[in-house]
Amino acid sequence: MILITGGAGFIGSNFVLDWLAAGTEPVVNLDKLTYAGNLANLASLQGDARHTFVQGDIGDRALIERLLAEHRPRAIVNFAAESHVDRSIHGAEDFIATNIVGTFRLLEAARGHWSQLPSDEKTAFRFLHVSTDEVYGSLAPDAPAFTEEHVYEPNSPYSASKAASDHLVRAWHHTHGLPVLTTNCSNNYGPYHFPEKLIPLMIVNALAGKALPIYGDGRQVRDWLYVSDHCSAIRRVLEAGRPGEVYNIGGWNEKTNLEIVHTLCELLDELQPCANGQSYRSQITHVTDRPGHDRRYAIDARKIERELGWRPAETFDTGIRKTIEWYLAHPDWVASVQSGAYRDWVAAQYGAGAAERGA
Ligand code: NAD
Ligand code: TYD
Repeated sequence: MILITGGAGFIGSNFVLDWLAAGTEPVVNLDKLTYAGNLANLASLQGDARHTFVQGDIGDRALIERLLAEHRPRAIVNFAAESHVDRSIHGAEDFIATNIVGTFRLLEAARGHWSQLPSDEKTAFRFLHVSTDEVYGSLAPDAPAFTEEHVYEPNSPYSASKAASDHLVRAWHHTHGLPVLTTNCSNNYGPYHFPEKLIPLMIVNALAGKALPIYGDGRQVRDWLYVSDHCSAIRRVLEAGRPGEVYNIGGWNEKTNLEIVHTLCELLDELQPCANGQSYRSQITHVTDRPGHDRRYAIDARKIERELGWRPAETFDTGIRKTIEWYLAHPDWVASVQSGAYRDWVAAQYGAGAAERGA
C-alpha cells in the first residue's frame, strides 16, 4: 500500500480517486483537514476498504511512525501543504509549520522507517514530494521555460516555504540516501478545486452574479495543467522515476489571467447563460495587484516526456470545459465549502463586506 498526505485537498483527493480507479493497491490517507481539506471530495469511497482515512498532521512524528509501522507502505506521496499565495502574504506561520517543519518531520519518520526495512523493501521504497514551479521565481516574457536545472528564486512566502521543503528532500537523499523523488508542477485546475484560487473563484463568482476580481493588469502568465494529468504524471514518476531526480510537470498551456477569465465567461455564456441576457464578462473588474506578484511561470516538461514517456492527455480547451461542467453539476459541493471560514477569507482579501456583496 501507499501513504498519501494531504489527500483530502484539491490535488490529493483527485490523486486518491484516480489511484483507486486505476488499480487495486490500498491507500492510507493522512490529512489534517485544514480549511482546504474536505472529506466530501472522497464521499464516493465510503465503504471502500482500500481507502483508510486518518485525520492528523504531517508534523506529528509519533503518529507518522505509528502509521508507517502499522501499514508498512512501499511509498509516501507528500501532497500536504498550505498552498495559497494570498494567504501566505496575510500570514506565513502555517506555511512555515506545515511546508517546512512538517516536511522535515515526515522525512525523519520516513528515514527511520526506511533504514530498518529488509533490503528488497528498502530498495523499492520511495518518498515522493509534490512541489510547485513557483520555487523557480518569475520569468521574463521571452525567457525559456523552467527546466529542472533552473535556479531557485522563490518570491512569495508560499514559494519560499515550498523551496525550503524541496531542499530538505534533496538533502535527505544526498546525506541519508533516502530514495526521494521531487515533482515541480505548474498551476492545476479541475474538480474539487477550492474557490479561493483563480479558476474556481471566477466560476463560482460568475454564477453567483458577483464581481470577477483580476489583480493588476491581468497580464500575468501561468501554465495550466488539468489535475488528472498531474495525477497521471505523479503515478508515472512513482513507478519509474530515478531516486534523487527532479521532474518538472506542465501542460504546455501558457495563458494570461485575462485570457483565462474571458474563456471562462465565454463558456459559461454558452453552458449557463445569465438570466439578464448579459455576458458574464460584464462582471469583470480590476482590483489592486498582489504584492510581489510573479509575472510569468512556464514549465519545460521535456525531461518527464523523454525519460518516462509522460505527456498530458487534456488540452486546455477540453480540460476547462470539463471543469466548468463539473462545477455546474456540483452546486452542493460549492455551497458546502463556502463555510464561515471561507467567507471570512473573502472579506479579508477583497475588502470588508465583499463576502456579501460579491468579491
Ligand atoms: P490544497 O490546499 O487544496 O490541499 C492541501 C491539503 O493538505 C488539505 O487537504 C489540507 O487539509 C492538508 N494539510 C495541510 N496542512 C497539513 C498538515 N500539517 N498535515 C496534514 N495535512 C495537511 O492544496 P493542493 O492544491 O491540493 O496542493 C497539493 C500539493 O501540490 C501542495 O504541496 C502544493 O504545493 C502542490 N502544488 C499545487 C499546485 C496547484 O496548482 N494547486 C501546483 C503545483 C504543486
Ligand atoms: P492562484 O490561483 O492564486 O495561483 P498562483 O498564485 O499560485 O499562481 O492565482 C493564479 C493567477 O491569478 C495569479 O496570477 C493571481 C491571479 N488572481 C487574480 O487575478 N484574481 C484572483 O482573485 C485570484 C485568486 C488570483
